[in-house]
Amino acid sequence: MAQEDVFKKLIAHCKEYGYIFPSSEIYDGLSAVYDYGQYGVELKNNIKKYWWDSMVLLNENIVGLDSAIFMHPTIWKASGHVDAFNDPLIDNKDSKKRYRADVLIEEHIAKIEEKIHKEIEKARTKFGDSFDEKKFRQTNARVITNQAKADEINSRYLKAMNATDLKELRQIILDNDIVCPISGSRNWTEVRQFNLMFATEMGSTTDGASKVYLRPETAQGIFVNFLNVQKTGRMKIPFGIAQIGKAFRNEIVARQFIFRMREFEQMEMQFFVQPGSELEWFRHWKNIRMKWHTALGYGEENYRFHDHTKLAHYANAATDIEYKFPFGFKEVEGIHSRTDFDLKQHQEFSGKKIQYFDPEKGESYIPYVIETSIGVDRMFLQIISSALREEEIIKENGTTDTRTVMKLPSFLAPVKLAVMPLVKKDGLPEIAEKIIHLLRFDFNCQYDDKDSIGRRYRRQDAIGTPYCITIDHQTIDDDTVTIRYRDTMLQERVKISSLKDIIAEKVSIASLLKKL
Ligand code: GAP
Repeated sequence: MAQEDVFKKLIAHCKEYGYIFPSSEIYDGLSAVYDYGQYGVELKNNIKKYWWDSMVLLNENIVGLDSAIFMHPTIWKASGHVDAFNDPLIDNKDSKKRYRADVLIEEHIAKIEEKIHKEIEKARTKFGDSFDEKKFRQTNARVITNQAKADEINSRYLKAMNATDLKELRQIILDNDIVCPISGSRNWTEVRQFNLMFATEMGSTTDGASKVYLRPETAQGIFVNFLNVQKTGRMKIPFGIAQIGKAFRNEIVARQFIFRMREFEQMEMQFFVQPGSELEWFRHWKNIRMKWHTALGYGEENYRFHDHTKLAHYANAATDIEYKFPFGFKEVEGIHSRTDFDLKQHQEFSGKKIQYFDPEKGESYIPYVIETSIGVDRMFLQIISSALREEEIIKENGTTDTRTVMKLPSFLAPVKLAVMPLVKKDGLPEIAEKIIHLLRFDFNCQYDDKDSIGRRYRRQDAIGTPYCITIDHQTIDDDTVTIRYRDTMLQERVKISSLKDIIAEKVSIASLLKKL
């Protein structure tokens, strides 16, 4: 199936099975805003728990915070967001569509690189084991020409971005014949800066009201509480502050479902260290965070680091953890060495000393910061796009069928087990109710007695329920039930009294945390 179709199917599945709905749907939706349904909210909460526990539970020197969304407007002046949290915007005069100039150029470079990749893969298939990629890259005329083209555009692009040269960005678009995907024309406006922060008014609408922003990242709430947490928690450097919360960005190009939203959620951790030790800690957190991702079992080959060559003005190192989505490798998480920029700026703008007295060094300093920042929604998309599968299965009568199954790790699954009486009579529903009553305090359980047992299994597969418990007539005689495993579809007969232990062991988050 084409990658685009895979993605469309995923979006449709999320809607059909109560994971994600377009926001305000009965009013035709609101662009790039989504609501999480009954299963979506459970999965989202489980993702957040996995992250929170890996930070706060596993690290004695990391504590949590929940700062407000509204903050003093000067915070965003100090952080640089008022002046520099901009995207270069360009309109196509024919289609009236709006684009990010940098994204148009990056996508153009990616297309050229894809051509090179295809050429290489074709040769690899042709020459088999004797294929030497390095030599091929150095000698194949088409690859050499395309690589030179990609390098030339990339170097112009980086220079223009670093210098915020908007004219040059437009010129790159014109020189490379980049067209509007809708109108196909090169009829572009000038490039101009667009600030991504949403602003609103706080207080009465008369003179006293002041302009405030919806936070575009949760990080600043951590920086401005640095001293509060350090002092009240008697924290010693190195230490971290973790926070999960909503962030808002007026994205110009909001696309790809929940990948780029206007209202989203972040899980951020700022780790405060001694100046000079930051790059060592940066490497440390790169490893820790990659382990956190790969522990989910979706294949190490699907993740990669993308080290930044163009660094933000406050960073001295930065990398993205990218995942192979159905639309290619894309950023899921950013890890940034933010130097002492933020604390220093807040010290200057607030006029309050923000320093740490290091008892070991006997001196005060502004700590340096390593940040790990991941979007909950993007992580959600990564998980469901890896989990959703169409599988061919062989039925008992030998014919084949397909099933749609969400292969979610058990501890992330919204519903842990479905309890199903084989028939709606002979006392089987009553036993099912008793089992639910026994297990509902520990696990999210669902009672299901509608349709044939096969259809019920399919329904639970589509939701991602890892275990189905079936009560049949044998249960009445010997207090046993069958557990049917979602991934293997195998069934096992077990005592009702052992159910709780069996499932607890399988859905426990602790076994995953122990891998980190
Ligand atoms: N405090 C640093 C910071 O906010 P970022 O790279 O802009 O860094 C961090 O964002 C993460 O937040 C991204 O890796 C992504 O997972 C998520 N994110 C950013 N913008 C988003 C958006 N518009 N929609 C969904 N997730 C987003």
